[in-house]
Amino acid sequence: MTTGTLALIILIAILAQASVAALIALKRHRRQFRKLDGSSSESSAHSAAPASTPPTSSTEAWAGFREFSVRRREFEDSGRSVCSFYLEPCDGEPLSSFKPGQFLTFRLAVRNLAKAETNTLVRCYSLSDAPRSDYYRVSIKRVPAPSDHPDLPPGVSSGFFHDHVHEGDRLMVKAPSGHFHLVEDEPLPIVLIAGGIGITPMLSILNTVLERGIEREIWLYYGVRNGREHVMKEHLQTLAGRHNNFHLHVCYSAPDESDIEGTDYDHPGRVDVPLLRNTLRLARYQFYVCGPKPMIESLVPGLEEWGVGSEDIHYESFGPATLVKREKPARTASATPISVTFSLSGKTLSWDPSADSLLEFAEANAIEVESGCRAGSCGTCQTALTAGEVDYSQQPDADIEPGHCLLCIATPRCDLVLEA
Ligand SMILES: Cc1cc2nc3c(=O)[nH]c(=O)nc-3n(C[C@H](O)[C@H](O)[C@H](O)COP(=O)(O)OP(=O)(O)OC[C@H]3O[C@@H](n4cnc5c(N)ncnc54)[C@H](O)[C@@H]3O)c2cc1C
Ligand code: FES
Repeated sequence: MTTGTLALIILIAILAQASVAALIALKRHRRQFRKLDGSSSESSAHSAAPASTPPTSSTEAWAGFREFSVRRREFEDSGRSVCSFYLEPCDGEPLSSFKPGQFLTFRLAVRNLAKAETNTLVRCYSLSDAPRSDYYRVSIKRVPAPSDHPDLPPGVSSGFFHDHVHEGDRLMVKAPSGHFHLVEDEPLPIVLIAGGIGITPMLSILNTVLERGIEREIWLYYGVRNGREHVMKEHLQTLAGRHNNFHLHVCYSAPDESDIEGTDYDHPGRVDVPLLRNTLRLARYQFYVCGPKPMIESLVPGLEEWGVGSEDIHYESFGPATLVKREKPARTASATPISVTFSLSGKTLSWDPSADSLLEFAEANAIEVESGCRAGSCGTCQTALTAGEVDYSQQPDADIEPGHCLLCIATPRCDLVLEA
């Protein structure tokens, strides 16, 4: 071998080594960049982040229903009427993040033993914990028959969860959604007002604010009947003892003999505006209210009368899923009758002004329309509106596609043509 050939071989070896080193460096650099960017599959799908941390990236919401399994279930009150379910996705892919206050929509196949048939139900349940990387949590109250109608069947979905959903069972779940959620980039102090099971979205907001060390002052006014219904009592008391910026006010409207004021609860009675005025100093706050309809109907106007701007009041009521027939005041028929055409059923009907919604009107006329929450949240009753316009009895929570409407909270403004 000549000296020239030897020099050439050495040069080729050096160049090859340099190229390998450069390639390795480039790969490392790319990996680091992807980590910062949050787009690496290593940083999301197989994140090494410990459990109970927020999702590493705001993963896109999935479309339609996704299968989840129940990792754990546990009762949250001494009366065992509220049970939490911890859910993890069966596909092992990352969870979508959510805004504290939002809810999940479930599709349940519930067996009706009496009729030997399986019914599909759609129901919404608020997320009751801060966003985590490894699970979602919902907390569900068992709904009994109304006290004035004990003969009616108890709540179907809540009963199904309590009696038939166990660890390891699988559930079909839609991605988190809803317009009732914490406005995070707002510096104002926060006042949470919860009645009964309306505590669930508040827990999500509260846990998020305190865990993230957000330095906003936060109050929770929580009304229940007595100690048996007091959800997550120990958790709330621990948070109040640990965080100077968290102020807890618990109200019992019908305390048991064993419930002690000052120990178990702070105020007898319900959460009302006079209580807020007596315990909050004069300042601007962001109010979040969630509870039964009568509570919303009295508190929200009460806050406005007190001088709170409507932009500072956020509220949500867990509307009835099952059609609750009430005695309705006779409404005066409009001068010109409104016609509603259900084009797929081939029926044109005169609108009945005593009907609460187009969904109720359709059902009363044997027109089949799918429904779920009956509260404008789940989107199941969304129907194409070919002609005409509707009014909503409350702000729709579900996102409505253009040219569609939510029948469960809509009434006709003029003649309508619906694709149903
Ligand atoms: C956005 C949103 C978030 C929610 N978050 C939560 C949450 O975090 N936790 C929670 O527990 N709930 C929550 N809910 C309420 C939940 O979705 C259900 O409405 C609730 O669990 C009741 O459903 P169900 O199927 O058990 O009761 P249903 O079967 O719908 O029955 C409801 C009531 O109607 C009565 N009833 C039955 N038949 C009739 C009849 N023929 N006429 C009149 N009444 C009748 C039942 O006895 C019962 O009292 C939320 C609702 C919404 C819209
Ligand atoms: S039934 Fe859920 S939005 Fe109408």
